[in-house]
Amino acid sequence: MSRRPLVAGNWKMHGTRAENAALLDALLHGQEAYATADVLVCPPFVYLWEAARILKSANIALGGQTVCAESIGAFTGEVSASMLKDVGCQYAIVGHSERRALYKEDDALVARKFVATQSQGLTPILCVGETLDEREGSRTFDVIARQLHAVLDVTGIAAFAKAVVAYEPVWAIGTGKNATAEQAQEVHAFIRAELHKRDATIAASVRILYGGSVKAANAREIFAMADVDGGLVGGASLKADEFLKICAAAA
Ligand code: PGA
Repeated sequence: MSRRPLVAGNWKMHGTRAENAALLDALLHGQEAYATADVLVCPPFVYLWEAARILKSANIALGGQTVCAESIGAFTGEVSASMLKDVGCQYAIVGHSERRALYKEDDALVARKFVATQSQGLTPILCVGETLDEREGSRTFDVIARQLHAVLDVTGIAAFAKAVVAYEPVWAIGTGKNATAEQAQEVHAFIRAELHKRDATIAASVRILYGGSVKAANAREIFAMADVDGGLVGGASLKADEFLKICAAAA
C-alpha cells in the first residue's frame, strides 16, 4: 500500500506577519522539493487568514494547531472548526502533547476535538506519544493504545479513513533528541496494528507521521521506515531551507 507522504509544519507560537510572509514565499518558491508529497503549515490562529491569502491556490495546505470541541457560543478565546474551515484550513492538529500537558486536555476532550474537526470536513491530525518516564517504565505501548482507543471508541474505525495520526514522543519534542528510525517504526507499526484489528483497509491507508526533533539531517532515515508516512515538524518548520529539505526527504 503506497501512502502519499505528508509533511506538516507546526509553527507553534512563533512568527510575525513579516516573518510568515517571508517563510511562505520561500516555501512557494521551493515547490519542486515537494512535488510528490503533501505539505501543510499550521501558523498561529491570528495569522491563518493572511497565510491563506498568500498561499492562494498553491499546493500547500493550511491547518489549525488546535481547535475547540464546541461548535459555537460562549467559549471565550476559543476557535471552532467551522471558523478554521471558513479561513481556508483543511486540517487541525488535535491532542498535541503541549495541549495535553500545559492546558490539561484529556483523552475525552481530544476525542471531542477530533469529532468537531471532522464534522466540518477537516482532517484531524491526532497526536499520541509517551513521556520519558512512561518509556523508561515500559509503558509506551499502553499509553499509545490508551490515547488511540480513547478516540477510536468514540468515533469508530471508519473515521480514521479521513484522519492522520502523528506519533510524537514527548521526550523528543523540541529537545533535539529524536527517536531513532527503529524506535519510530516500532511504535508506528504498533499503531497500524491497533487500527488493523478494527479494519485492515483503513489501517493500511492511514498516514502516520513522526514528530519530535525532525530535521533535514535525520528526516530521510526516519521517513524511509515502512510505517512512517511523513513528519510533524516544529522548530525546523520555521526555517524555509530546512523545512524544504525535510519535504524533499519525504517526497
Ligand atoms: P519539534 O516539535 O520538531 O520542534 O520537536 C514537533 C512538534 O511538537 O510537533
